[in-house]
Amino acid sequence: MNKLFIYSLVGSLLFASCSSTRRQFGSHRTSPATFNKAAVVTAHPLASEVGLMILKKGGNAVDAAVAVQFALAVVYPNAGNIGGGGFMLYRNSQGQYDALDFRETAPKKAHRDMYLDAQKNVIPDLSLYSQLASGVPGSVAGMWEAHQKYGKLDWKELLLPAIELARKGFKISERQAREFEDHKERFIKLNPTGAAIIKNTTWQTGDLFVQEDLANTIERIANEGRDGFYKGKTADMLVAEMNRGKGIITHEDLTSYQARWRAPIASSYRGHKVTSMPPPSSGGTSLLALLKSVEQFPLRRWGFQTDSAIRVIVEAERHVYANRAKYLGDPDFINVPVQQLIDSTKNAAKLNPFNFRQATLSKNVNADVIPGYESEQTTHFNIVDEQGNAVAITTTLNDSYGSGVIVDGAGFLLNNEMDDFSVKTGVPNMYGLTGEKANEIQPGKRMLSSMTPTILEKDGKLFMVVGTPGGSTIITSVFQTILNVIDFGQNAQAAVSSPRFHHQWLPDRIDVEKDAIDTTLRDKLTKDGYVINPRGTIGRVENILILPNGKLQAGADPRGDDTAKGY
Ligand code: GLY
Repeated sequence: MNKLFIYSLVGSLLFASCSSTRRQFGSHRTSPATFNKAAVVTAHPLASEVGLMILKKGGNAVDAAVAVQFALAVVYPNAGNIGGGGFMLYRNSQGQYDALDFRETAPKKAHRDMYLDAQKNVIPDLSLYSQLASGVPGSVAGMWEAHQKYGKLDWKELLLPAIELARKGFKISERQAREFEDHKERFIKLNPTGAAIIKNTTWQTGDLFVQEDLANTIERIANEGRDGFYKGKTADMLVAEMNRGKGIITHEDLTSYQARWRAPIASSYRGHKVTSMPPPSSGGTSLLALLKSVEQFPLRRWGFQTDSAIRVIVEAERHVYANRAKYLGDPDFINVPVQQLIDSTKNAAKLNPFNFRQATLSKNVNADVIPGYESEQTTHFNIVDEQGNAVAITTTLNDSYGSGVIVDGAGFLLNNEMDDFSVKTGVPNMYGLTGEKANEIQPGKRMLSSMTPTILEKDGKLFMVVGTPGGSTIITSVFQTILNVIDFGQNAQAAVSSPRFHHQWLPDRIDVEKDAIDTTLRDKLTKDGYVINPRGTIGRVENILILPNGKLQAGADPRGDDTAKGY
């Protein structure tokens, strides 16, 4: 990639990033962007621009995805990363699928009770905000692996936009400035020697964010491939960072990390083939189970967020999340009964006969497990290229900015994904119930995830590419977006903008966004035993629909700075 191209990229986007329209959620933006040939939707306008430029240069969807993953690590440090992990679902233009698991793993020195004190109580913040909170990062290995198998353009070329964005800097949005300030105290505490993200004065909208150390790290990865991260200088700095705190990731953990190709899982929903991520994500399994649970009901006739539709969706979510808590974990360590969990007859039976007048109580849908808190800060992006190859990637540091620890000298944030394990497995909780073994910590094991990159086809043709961040709400957000399109006839943007609600078995309540479920209906549901819990936004869904005329309709979530680009 020539320098001129990069300069024009950075130059043209410096302004774009700070002036990008902050689309207010609640304005219900419903007009989708429509493109003739290719589309990219990500959480950040600069990352979408990078993906678009790679496609225009002749790169395929996987090339663009690699470039976007590295660009997000620079321009969207909340969740974009090289110090975290994720999942990629891929469908080529011939209809063949592949799934790549680049989830973090527990370091070899990890053990089941590593976050408990002598009394078996969880030590506050240890699995969240410390060097010990990190799993072995998988993102660089994942991108390397994806590129080795499917990439077309030169690896180095794909990383150049990220390097330049880090080195020259970019203007931050109002939202980003606010977030940097909100997290400042944590950054200072965890990074006593300083970091680019910590500014002596207050971050303001339009400030230039320059990350020289990160630029150098990505340059090493550009020059040396995965070894630029898992070996040599970057690895030395990461291990030194571990030694500064109580971290346990070693050189051996890094060199032995492997991303894994997995067989995607698939089912059908009203004549569409739905393909999604297998374990160690619980996402695909739960999504397919949800779709199979509600398929028997006339949702389209009932209509969007009507009384009956809400009750059926909530009860389906209640049952599926109880199973999720009990059975899901890393398939390399436990036997996950995926086919049984998505079995249409079994899921349909759970809601049959259905009581439309009274809530089921979650305590009567007992799985003997109490699910833990799951952070909602992750990010998702979709790419469809000119040939019709499609990529859906959900990637994460877990919490916003991960553990908050920035590898000294290397400039990247580390994940706090260890918290996605059941840190109290086997320890009775306040209700006297014991946690499940499926997701207990073991060396080398992948922690359970909810990430749900999903691709749908209709009549053998690509139909929809979808995914979202949102921790445990990921699954229900993807589920409702699919229903919005297939059952409620919404376009790509409306399906994403529509208000959402969420039930996850425990706590036994329906979380609702401001505009979800009208107030009369909320009262009626409350009378019938449902607990309604108003909350902030749920998820940030990205969605691409392929129309019958071959055009691409893209929906970027108005809850953030998310942006669709294409041509
Ligand atoms: N850390 C969020 C997830 O993996 O689901």
